[in-house]
Amino acid sequence: MLSAAELEQYTREGFVIKRGWFSPAEVSALIRFAQDDPEMLARVTGRLDSEGNQTKLSLWDDPPQNLFGFFARSRRLVEPATQLVGEEIYHYHSKLMLKEPHTGGAWEWHQDYGYWYNYACLRPAMISCLIALDRADRENGCLQVLPGSHDLGRIDHGKVAGQTGADMERVDVLLARQSPTYVECEPGDVLFFHCNLLHRSDANRSPRSRWSLICCYNARSNSPYKPARHAAYQPLELTDESRMAAAVLEIANRPSRSAQDKSVPATAPLANP
Ligand code: SIN
Ligand code: MN
Repeated sequence: MLSAAELEQYTREGFVIKRGWFSPAEVSALIRFAQDDPEMLARVTGRLDSEGNQTKLSLWDDPPQNLFGFFARSRRLVEPATQLVGEEIYHYHSKLMLKEPHTGGAWEWHQDYGYWYNYACLRPAMISCLIALDRADRENGCLQVLPGSHDLGRIDHGKVAGQTGADMERVDVLLARQSPTYVECEPGDVLFFHCNLLHRSDANRSPRSRWSLICCYNARSNSPYKPARHAAYQPLELTDESRMAAAVLEIANRPSRSAQDKSVPATAPLANP
């Protein structure tokens, strides 16, 4: 559970970080599982950023009965996210963000609710939980956030450098007044962030990959008012921690098919997540 100080920080800044929230063994198992999971690999979509680097992700609405689902249903994400949203939440979607060495593309300034508003969600009662799977720093394009920007409400989004991004006239005014915070993470750290928090990331200029898993939740009362992209309300079944521990152990003991190569081909164009 989050402390009163953490809740207060989220209210003020729109994000809170829990360091070492998942163990090295859990993170390694998730990476290994992902590299050998044909369903995840088949779902990878990509889009070129303004400099021709490819931004890639694999996304799913229903948490599967495997390690991806165990993370998304974990009390370590769901309990703090429920506290931060302030009411019962459900799984909206999860996505594996794949920023590859040298070629992983940038994300322009946006709010997640800038997309989700268009998916029939009435209120910004929604949250993203980013789990770092690799070390994330300035060199490999870690997330940047504008603290407090969640308080602006939803900003109009339109075409920005080939992506859908926030109105840059407003973002530029904000950037003249405050510097972004670079959210540097170690594997296993989790960033909980409000759906109206402005964020972006640079391309990966390093020889290291920057993978992360982002699990997104919506308030039960804010389920889309008509069929739209991403999930409608379904009760969220929590992960049994002993089942997760057994899966982590089983994956660690598997002979690995893929060596350390984390390159993944994109099979379709990326839509706004
Ligand atoms: C990123 O991980 O670089 C972008 C993630 C997001 O936009 O949610
Ligand atoms: Mn986003």
